[in-house]
Amino acid sequence: MLNYFRIGILLLIIFISGKANAGNDPVIKDLNLLAEEDTSMIHAASNFKSICASCHRDDFSWFAKRKWKYGKTERDIYTSAKTGYPDYGMPSFKNKFSDQELKDLAKLIYTKLEFNIGENGIKDMDTKRIVTEKLNIRLDTVITGLNSPWGMVFLPDGDMLVNDRDGQMFRFRKGQKIAEIQGLPEIEVEGQGGLLDFRLHPDYKQNGWIYFSYSSCSVSKEVGWNTTLMRAKIKNNTLIDKQVLFKALPETKVGYHFGGRITFDGKGHLFISVGERGNGTNAQTLSNDCGKIHRLNDDGTIPSDNPFYNQPDAKKTIWSYGQRNPQGLYYDTDTNILWENEHGPKGGDELNIIGPGKNYGWPEISFGINYDGTILTKDTAKVGMEQPITYWVPSIAPSGLAIVKGDRYKGWEGNVLVGSLRFKYLVRCEMEGMRVTNKEIMFPNIGRLRDIEMSPDGYIYISVEDPGIIFRLVPVP
Ligand code: HEC
Repeated sequence: MLNYFRIGILLLIIFISGKANAGNDPVIKDLNLLAEEDTSMIHAASNFKSICASCHRDDFSWFAKRKWKYGKTERDIYTSAKTGYPDYGMPSFKNKFSDQELKDLAKLIYTKLEFNIGENGIKDMDTKRIVTEKLNIRLDTVITGLNSPWGMVFLPDGDMLVNDRDGQMFRFRKGQKIAEIQGLPEIEVEGQGGLLDFRLHPDYKQNGWIYFSYSSCSVSKEVGWNTTLMRAKIKNNTLIDKQVLFKALPETKVGYHFGGRITFDGKGHLFISVGERGNGTNAQTLSNDCGKIHRLNDDGTIPSDNPFYNQPDAKKTIWSYGQRNPQGLYYDTDTNILWENEHGPKGGDELNIIGPGKNYGWPEISFGINYDGTILTKDTAKVGMEQPITYWVPSIAPSGLAIVKGDRYKGWEGNVLVGSLRFKYLVRCEMEGMRVTNKEIMFPNIGRLRDIEMSPDGYIYISVEDPGIIFRLVPVP
């Protein structure tokens, strides 16, 4: 009895202290990372944090260092949590949690352990000469010391600006942090939200406009937050002339699927992606902004040739719909093709070519399956819905998208690059027209690959997170 009382007090303290600094809590952070692949993990992670972490530490190191007594498969962990070992101080949780919750907890711990294997992959990797199918690559470490470098741009003077999802924007010169940009708007760093993508206006040299996306509340925290697009100029490392160009609605307190990628078409328009915010119905409903790709003029006004501009109940900014969580968006100004990648539910991650007014099918059609393994939708195709160029089962959790340009990378010209958050590698898709003929996995274990950009001098830069590092890919003999 006394024991339970003690545990109760302990949990209460943990609970209260956890609430106080949820923002930089390691489990909350883990939760965000995992949730990218699997939203059910959000609930498991908060259960872990509020109940298990009191005895097992909140960074999973208790499990990682453990000489396992009862087995470390998902099934074993589930059994341990369900039955407990009261004689040894491990309570039974079969009355506290449902069977599904226990399974999810087991999955969280198991996945966490699995992910930790090779966590230091990059340290063990010889970055001087990595042999790939067509090229040998040296990985230059350009920038370190970030958390989640979500978006990056190259200024004409050679400096780089980088968005850290935590809500900070930095200026780097030759790899050294020389300033933190001041005057940022109010950013809601919640779950996968925070300071997101980054673009320069195609005529930046003339007009000085920078564009970035982030999550913000327009009413209050109680109502929620959603993806927002701002443009501004920078003077003395401070944002000036700030203008909110787009605010996705409705707000919701869901902490995932913000989308947030931005790309310009070079003809005065920009595109911005917005995730369905955890609600599939959103993606098929034209009267809200979620689960869509939007098209705006570069000053935030709405082009009158947008596909639903004249449809009374539709948002005028919509360019395409039926998207789940688009984390890669790239307008190829040579071919006028808009490329996109998005997270499927569990498997079914897609690479798409986006066309005006088109429906990409989520959640009506998908190559994914439900989190609990049951069939999500028996349909992978329907009339009036687009098919992906390629898809991934299991999910790689794609983020970042770029097409190899210029002549620095012999044999990679025109290839589509896609990052994997989940498996921590870069995918190079060889194309024949619109068809993917080969997918090469490169730099396994480099880190959760978040963003891919080509610099003005023709190098590919990739960013990984936790810890945040930016690498430059240099071809070597
Ligand atoms: C009051 C403290 C306490 C709490 C709360 C607690 N555990 Fe434990 N747990 C222990 C102890 C102590 C052991 C080691 C038992 C042993 O050595 O036989 C253990 C063992 C385990 C094991 C088995 C490890 C092995 O070696 O095979 C798993 C799995 C586990 N706990 C999961 C959980 C999960 C999941 C939760 C949250 C739902 C949780 N625990 C909550 C104290 C706790």
